Amino acid sequence: MNWLAGKVVENRHWTDALFSLRVEAARLNFEAGQFVRIALDIEGERVARPFSFVNPPQHPVLEFYGIIVPQGPLSPRLARLAPGDSLYVASNPAGFLVLSEVPDAETLWLVATGTGIAPFVSILRTEAPWRRFRNVVLVHAVRHAAELVYRDVFKDMNLTYVSFVSREVAPGSLTGRIPAAVRDGRLEAAAGLKLAPETAHVMLCGNPEMLKDTAAALLERGMRKHRRRNPGHITVESFW
Ligand SMILES: Cc1cc2nc3c(=O)[nH]c(=O)nc-3n(C[C@H](O)[C@H](O)[C@H](O)COP(=O)(O)OP(=O)(O)OC[C@H]3O[C@@H](n4cnc5c(N)ncnc54)[C@H](O)[C@@H]3O)c2cc1C
Ligand SMILES: NC(=O)c1ccc[n+]([C@@H]2O[C@H](COP(=O)([O-])OP(=O)(O)OC[C@H]3O[C@@H](n4cnc5c(N)ncnc54)[C@H](OP(=O)(O)O)[C@@H]3O)[C@@H](O)[C@H]2O)c1
Repeated sequence: MNWLAGKVVENRHWTDALFSLRVEAARLNFEAGQFVRIALDIEGERVARPFSFVNPPQHPVLEFYGIIVPQGPLSPRLARLAPGDSLYVASNPAGFLVLSEVPDAETLWLVATGTGIAPFVSILRTEAPWRRFRNVVLVHAVRHAAELVYRDVFKDMNLTYVSFVSREVAPGSLTGRIPAAVRDGRLEAAAGLKLAPETAHVMLCGNPEMLKDTAAALLERGMRKHRRRNPGHITVESFW
């Protein structure tokens, strides 16, 4: 593994648990939607975890969006980093949650829980979604309204934005979970668009249980997992 030295230029805290790290490092080649391993040396050992890029590829500063998993070895330490602190960034970005792997469709649905929004922010900051799809929908499900991050980035985009807040009542957001809203039609009604195999491709990212449950609800609608050799309508990336 080849490690690059990175320097923190900003660590924005959105809530007690959520943070966005901006990092200066040597330029990396990646496609929007990919991830890279970032690491700290902890008690003599290099501890690395994959993080999705939030910045678009051409941007000179790398950006990562994270949550503190209280018992986790790396995330609480990343959250404590301050400008000027060092970390390591692997030299080999990877991942298949990218538009070059997605077939043409009328509507692109980007569906995330929690920090799973990170790769979609990067994708939305590129030209490809706007060039390739007539409609682009971003669905973000979080526990609390304060976790609906990056909305300032979306405000000038021609984006259909649907949010879910599951653990409090939040005006303007749907309640409950994404799979139930796929099944009962609330998600389509909120977006004003059909979620059907003829018109949609869905990219899912975040909590593995959400990926499983949402994919099951989409399969019931006649959609199927996308594979290079057997094109379909559902692309997934699990964060754990
Ligand atoms: C391809 C890929 C991309 C990823 N991109 C991101 C990213 O952009 N931002 C990010 O915060 N994390 C991301 N992760 C998760 C990240 O790699 C770490 O697992 C996370 O930062 C926690 O690290 P840790 O060492 O503190 O705990 P770990 O030992 O890695 O995780 C402990 C437990 O915490 C929970 N957990 C892990 N990650 C999350 C999360 N993101 N949200 C809620 N619960 C979680 C799971 O239950 C996991 O078993 C990604 C993971 C993968 C596989
Ligand atoms: N979010 C916080 O306030 C907070 C604060 C400190 C630490 N943490 C740590 O972060 C982790 C959780 O992070 P998170 O809140 O970003 O992620 P999360 O638990 O994945 O929750 C994000 C959203 O996904 C929903 N969801 C969960 N399982 C689902 C499923 N099977 N199908 C569809 N939707 C599903 C949740 O709904 P439900 O609410 O219905 O589950 C919630 O709306 C925990 O390990 C916790 O220790 C979180």
